Amino acid sequence: MSGGRRVPNIAVVGGQWGDEGKGKVVDLISEHFAVVARFQGGPNAGHTVTIGDRRHAVHQVPSGVFRPGVRIVIGNGTVVDPEKLIEELDQLTAAGFDLADRLFISDRAHVILPLLQQLDALSENSADPGARIGTTQRGIGPTYEAKAARWGIRVADLSDPIQLERRIQRMLDGPAGRRLRDAGEQPEAAAGVARRAHAQWRRLAPHVADTAMLLNDWIDGGANVLFEGAQGTLLDLDHGWYPYVTSSSTMAGGVCAGLGLAPKLIGGVLGVFKAYASRVGAGPMPTECDDGPGGVGERLRERGREYGTTTGRPRRCGWFDGVAARYANRINRFDCICVTLLDVLDAFDTVRIAVEYRVADRRTPTVPPSVAGAMEPVFETLAGWGSDTTGIRAWDALPEAARRYLGRIEEIVGAEVALAGVGPERGQSLVRPGSWLARQLGR
Ligand code: GDP
Ligand code: IMO
Ligand code: MG
Repeated sequence: MSGGRRVPNIAVVGGQWGDEGKGKVVDLISEHFAVVARFQGGPNAGHTVTIGDRRHAVHQVPSGVFRPGVRIVIGNGTVVDPEKLIEELDQLTAAGFDLADRLFISDRAHVILPLLQQLDALSENSADPGARIGTTQRGIGPTYEAKAARWGIRVADLSDPIQLERRIQRMLDGPAGRRLRDAGEQPEAAAGVARRAHAQWRRLAPHVADTAMLLNDWIDGGANVLFEGAQGTLLDLDHGWYPYVTSSSTMAGGVCAGLGLAPKLIGGVLGVFKAYASRVGAGPMPTECDDGPGGVGERLRERGREYGTTTGRPRRCGWFDGVAARYANRINRFDCICVTLLDVLDAFDTVRIAVEYRVADRRTPTVPPSVAGAMEPVFETLAGWGSDTTGIRAWDALPEAARRYLGRIEEIVGAEVALAGVGPERGQSLVRPGSWLARQLGR
């Protein structure tokens, strides 16, 4: 509740290629919600929340976990790795975050089994480098593939060890097992996998529920829900730069199917962008600055600590891609956007924004479907602000040039900038007075 009025159900989604700072934004605003729910993705996500001098990374557990009393839901649209999830729960409990009566895991979420993770690694290590996506190798693609092909295993299926072993055996006898054997891999026998998965079930069972029913009941009872997206719009299975995408619907549109909620229950959509661009894995990134030691790319990477939360891989970095961001706004219709990591640009004399691409000598204001051929960004250059913003705690105290930069992003993207991030810590987020977000939160 805020100012006596209930904050609507809001979706927080990534506007770029993931790692935009969604975890930080969710943590910041989750105090205004009764529930935080993840609707897609799985342990490929790595969401960082910094509270004081402690940095926490969550992968499958929603970033609302750091607010005691907020219920957290891992929805049916996600894929769950039980072993890694248990590790994560143990770490969170050891760090003092109680999960007993507030974590709910969908009985319909699909399960990442070791052989599915093995399949992911197999494609990624394929002899043909052109076939590699640069996935996180967490088994995401093969698990969603099994779901769509209707031979996947869901969380509820782990409860019956005999049926479970039969179904895993069927996977091993079918195309999944064959693909591994053809590549000279020896998948683990079904009996052992089923035994372990069933033991994991016993540990997770107190949290497993029909989360779609729960969420609908809670909403009817007056609770509000924050929907936490993973990855980003340019990694969306349908709308990203296929095939260099993840295997789920990362956009706000993914909320309904991924949680069992009607579209009319989404009261607003918040897009999260970083003040520049980063990407891990293969695929197009028109504004990437691959300009060697001391260059813009390296400076952004070092200042932004751009190394993957999940895999530790160095992220590719470059200037803000206004073309991709405008596209993300068109298909998400953000009510407002957050621009994080603004402080990373503090050290630059000038800052740049791509406003168009040049593809085969023709200018295009939007994202082409094909990844074939070079996309040359057309940049606009703005003055930097050359001062440290990390100590700023109010929007109006931002340097004039920083506000001009955010204003230009707002014009290019077509959505109001309602929050600026000036550091990783909870307090280093500046909500813009009078903005859509400020009004919702009653600030
Ligand atoms: P997510 O996957 O979208 O939740 O983002 P990640 O946590 O993977 O990556 C964002 C990184 O930027 C994390 O290391 C955050 O701690 C950090 N971060 C978030 N917001 C800010 C900010 O405004 N300034 C700085 N310097 N770091 C930030
Ligand atoms: P968060 O939620 C950044 C990328 C991978 C790869 C592609 C497909 O922390 O923003 P996958 O393992 O999903 O099959 O990989 O998607 N990717 C991410 N990049 N942030 C993420 O999550 C990502 N999750 C997947 O690097 O390019
Ligand atoms: Mg991340």
